[in-house]
Amino acid sequence: MQEPAARPIRFVHRGAIAEVARAPTTKSVLYWLREDAHCVGTKEGCNEGDCGACMVMVGSRDAQAPGGLALRAVNACLQFVAMLDGKALFTIEDLKRIARTGDGGTLHPAQRAMVACHGSQCGFCTPDFTMSLAACYEQYVASETRPTRQLIADTLSGNLCRCTGYRPILDAGEAMFDASTAGPSSARIDRAAVVRLLDRLAGDPPLHYRAPESAMASIDETGKDAWVAAPRTIDALASLYEAHHDARLVAGATDVGLWITKQFRAMPGQIRVDAIESLKAIEWKGDRLTIGAGASLEGAWSALVAIAPALHEMQLRFASLPLRLAGTMGGNVANGSPIGDSAPILLALDATLLLRRGTARRRMALDDFYVDYMKNRLAPGEFIEAIEVPRPFPDTAIRAYKLGKRYDCDISAVCAGLAIRVEDGRVAHARFAFGGMAAIVKRAAQAEAAVLDAPWNEATVQRAIDGLANDFAAMTDLRASASYRQKAAANLLRRFWFETRRDAPLAADELSVWPPRRTPMR
Ligand code: FAD
Ligand code: FES
Ligand code: FES
Repeated sequence: MQEPAARPIRFVHRGAIAEVARAPTTKSVLYWLREDAHCVGTKEGCNEGDCGACMVMVGSRDAQAPGGLALRAVNACLQFVAMLDGKALFTIEDLKRIARTGDGGTLHPAQRAMVACHGSQCGFCTPDFTMSLAACYEQYVASETRPTRQLIADTLSGNLCRCTGYRPILDAGEAMFDASTAGPSSARIDRAAVVRLLDRLAGDPPLHYRAPESAMASIDETGKDAWVAAPRTIDALASLYEAHHDARLVAGATDVGLWITKQFRAMPGQIRVDAIESLKAIEWKGDRLTIGAGASLEGAWSALVAIAPALHEMQLRFASLPLRLAGTMGGNVANGSPIGDSAPILLALDATLLLRRGTARRRMALDDFYVDYMKNRLAPGEFIEAIEVPRPFPDTAIRAYKLGKRYDCDISAVCAGLAIRVEDGRVAHARFAFGGMAAIVKRAAQAEAAVLDAPWNEATVQRAIDGLANDFAAMTDLRASASYRQKAAANLLRRFWFETRRDAPLAADELSVWPPRRTPMR
C-alpha cells in the first residue's frame, strides 16, 4: 500500500501551534514538557499513572461538549507526544499565563480556590490537583451545573497528596464554583480561541510521523524506522494494520505507556486508533449494545451502568477518572490481563467481540477469546472493532465486585462479574466470571453448573462455592495469597446470594463501607 507522506506532530500549546519533528516516537508528553518545552510545573512522580503528579489538561474538538471543546485531565506520563496531534495541551503554566495577561492578572478559579482554602502544603502535588480541579471547573461551569463534594472527590481519584491535604483541596473544589472565589470569567480557558486553532489543525492530513534515526538511537537499539500513524477511518486502520501487523496498536496507552516507562521495550511501529471517531461510538443496535473498541472506559462503563445500575461502584473503582477517560474498552479487553476489570462483567453479560482483519470481519464470544496469560485469539493484523452486549432479560440480577487494597485507583486482587436469572424459583441462567483467579479471566464452569436448574437457596450457593474450588487454582503474588483469593471468591458468591435471594435481600450498598455514591461523570 502507498505510504502517506511523513509530517511533524502538530498540536496547540501555549496559545500557538507547536510542531514536533525530532522527538522519539515513544517520548511521553511529560518528558517533552520537562525536557524540550521547559515547562517544569508538571511533575514526575511514579511515571506509571498512579500518583497524578503529571496531570495536564488535553482539549479536543467535540460537538457535544460546551463550546465544541472537550477538556479532560490526563496523565502526561502515559501519553506519547504523537497522541497530542490535532489536540490542545494545557499545563499549569497556561493557567499562570492567564493570570499574568488576563483581566487584571487574575488567577484561574481553581488556583484562586487553592489559595483561598490553603490547599497546598509542601506544594509538590499542587500543580496536579490544580489541573484536575481546573478540568472539573471548566467542564461544570460551561454546562452551568455544580458538582457535589463527592463528585469532586471522584474527580480527584487520580491525584495523590503526600501531605494528606485532602480536606482543604476538597474545600477548594467546592469554593471554586462560588462567585466570590472564582473571580471574573475572563480567567477561564478561552474556548473560542482554542477552537480556532484546533480547526486550523483539522486541515492537516492524518498523522504519519517518522522519528529521525538520531532521536531513536539513544532509547531504542534498533535506532531507525520508528514511526507512528493515526488513520482516521476504520477502513484505513484495517488496511494499514493488515500491511504492518508487526506494528503495535495504541489506543489510550494506559497499558502500552508502561511498557515504555517501566519495561523499556522497543516499539518501532505504532498505529494509533484514537483519531477514529467512528471507533468510539456507543449505541444500541436492536437489542445489542455496541461499544466501539475505541470508546473510553468511562463512556463504556456508563453504558453498562445504564443496563445494570449496581455496576456503578465498579465503574468508580476502575482506575481513576483521568485513566478511564484516556483508556479504552477495546484496549482493556485486548490487553487481556488476568486482573482486568472489564472482562469479568462482560463475560457475565455474554459479550461478543466484532473482529476485523483487512476487509474480513468475524464474531467471537468473549468466552472463547482468551487462550493463556495475556494471549488471545487475534490473528496477525486483526483488531477488535466493537464489543457487543446483548440486552439482559429484565429480571436478571447483575453485580460486579472488586477487591483491592484501596478504594480508588487500585488493581484488583479478585474481581467478579455475576449474573443470575431465577424463573419459577429455579435458576434458569447463571454466569459467574472471575478475574485474579487464574492466568486468564474466565467463567467458573462448575459453580455455574451447580446452580443451573436448582432452587436459588443457600444450599445451592454452597454447592456453587464447592464448585469454585475446582474451577480455579488461584496464585499467590504480591497482591494476595492463593488462599485469600480462593476464600474471597467464595465470599463474593455468598454476597451475591445475600443480595439476590428472594427473602430479605440485602441492598447492594448494605455491605459497602461507603455511603451511597453519586451518578457517573461523562
Ligand atoms: P492501550 O494501552 O493503548 O493498549 C493495550 C493493549 O491493547 C495493547 O496490546 C494494544 O495493542 C491493544 N489494543 C488496543 N486497542 C485495540 C483494539 N481495538 N484491537 C486490538 N488490540 C487493541 N485496568 C483494569 O482493568 N482495572 C483497573 O482498575 C485498572 N487500573 C489501572 C490503574 C493504573 C494506574 C494504570 C496505569 C492502568 C490501570 N488499568 C486498569 C489498566 C488499563 O487502564 C486498562 O487495561 C486500559 O483499559 C487499557 O486501554 P488503553 O486504551 O489504554 O489500551
Ligand atoms: Fe505519577 Fe504520572 S507521574 S501519574
Ligand atoms: Fe505536599 Fe500535596 S501538598 S504532596
